[in-house]
Amino acid sequence: MQPHELSQTIILPQTKVAFFINLKVPAGQEQAAIDALTGLSGTVDGVSFRDPHSHLSAVVGIGSQLWDRLFDPSTAPKPEGLHDFVPLEGDKHSAPSTGGDLFFHIRSDEFDRAFELTRRIKGLLGDEVETLDEVHAFRYMDFRDPLGFVDGTESPQGRAGADAALIAEGQWAGGSYIVEQKYTHNLKDWEKIGVEEQQRVIGRTKAEDIEFDDAEKPHNSHVFLNSVEDADGNSLEIVRDNLAFGKGTGEQGTFFMSYANDVRVTELMLRRMFLGEPRGNYDRILDFSTPLTGANFFAPPQEFIDAADEYVRPGLLPDDDAPADPSQPATQLSAAKGLYPQD
Ligand code: HEM
Repeated sequence: MQPHELSQTIILPQTKVAFFINLKVPAGQEQAAIDALTGLSGTVDGVSFRDPHSHLSAVVGIGSQLWDRLFDPSTAPKPEGLHDFVPLEGDKHSAPSTGGDLFFHIRSDEFDRAFELTRRIKGLLGDEVETLDEVHAFRYMDFRDPLGFVDGTESPQGRAGADAALIAEGQWAGGSYIVEQKYTHNLKDWEKIGVEEQQRVIGRTKAEDIEFDDAEKPHNSHVFLNSVEDADGNSLEIVRDNLAFGKGTGEQGTFFMSYANDVRVTELMLRRMFLGEPRGNYDRILDFSTPLTGANFFAPPQEFIDAADEYVRPGLLPDDDAPADPSQPATQLSAAKGLYPQD
């Protein structure tokens, strides 16, 4: 099977709405986490079936620490690139690591469907699981971020997107590494510099979204620092699903949401942005945009999510195979002795 047939619903056209939900699973709540994983597909169907036009979907990612707590390393070894977000301290700007155990990327063209699905997922998780962050993001105008630039143009789509985002082979084929950061913008300072200078910060024109020629593109522009290549000169790509969030009268920002088949690519981009390339030549977008969160997750293949209870560490959950009380009538077909005459 191809990676995109094995994956969760990762490679999709952008929707009008996305909810980004980051949760902490306290010790003792592992059963709730497993129930949310195994129950997710059915829960999405339960909300989307009656309204297919809402294009409702959900991807779940698991944080490194929760992975260690939940899964048996002999049957579900931790994906090689899954670790906590590495905080970055540049000369001027820093990227904090804020953690998280379960991350849901819920997409829809209808706000109410995303809302309803989120409520139901919370229902599966129960009251003890803590919400670290819940962001309701939206497509702003013609795919613009609150800085006013079209965001997502060069993010690979379709087949190219699947190649960039999904692990191609091995046990985790179809899986993907998520890196998320919630940024807020200083729009007053941004407006002050004017459109010409804003374009030099991004490396593209604002109205028409045309990339600057290499000769014109400043080396501290966002596009320049995020264009990365391997040793052979092949460009390294990630899939971005950023959306705008905020209040019309208050704080506004961009939720950076990325999928990659190799987390080191996203990490390289982050180092170039925050530490600079060469060191000190940091991304000028950071003079106007500040990350409040930073967290890594792994979105396992769909089949693993559906059967997550089969991969748990021995002894973690109550034993389902414990002998049933023989004085009670059987409720499982496999245990229903006497159902057939030959029994
Ligand atoms: C405040 C947060 C951010 C904003 C507002 C933002 C906005 C943009 C915009 C407007 C573009 C140009 C159009 C496009 O191709 O999408 C772009 C390109 C890009 N951004 Fe960001 N971005 C943000 C954060 C990030 C982060 C954290 C990363 C990586 C870790 C990143 C990676 C990229 C890449 C790879 C490109 C395409 C570069 C190319 O042309 O090849 N962005 N971003």
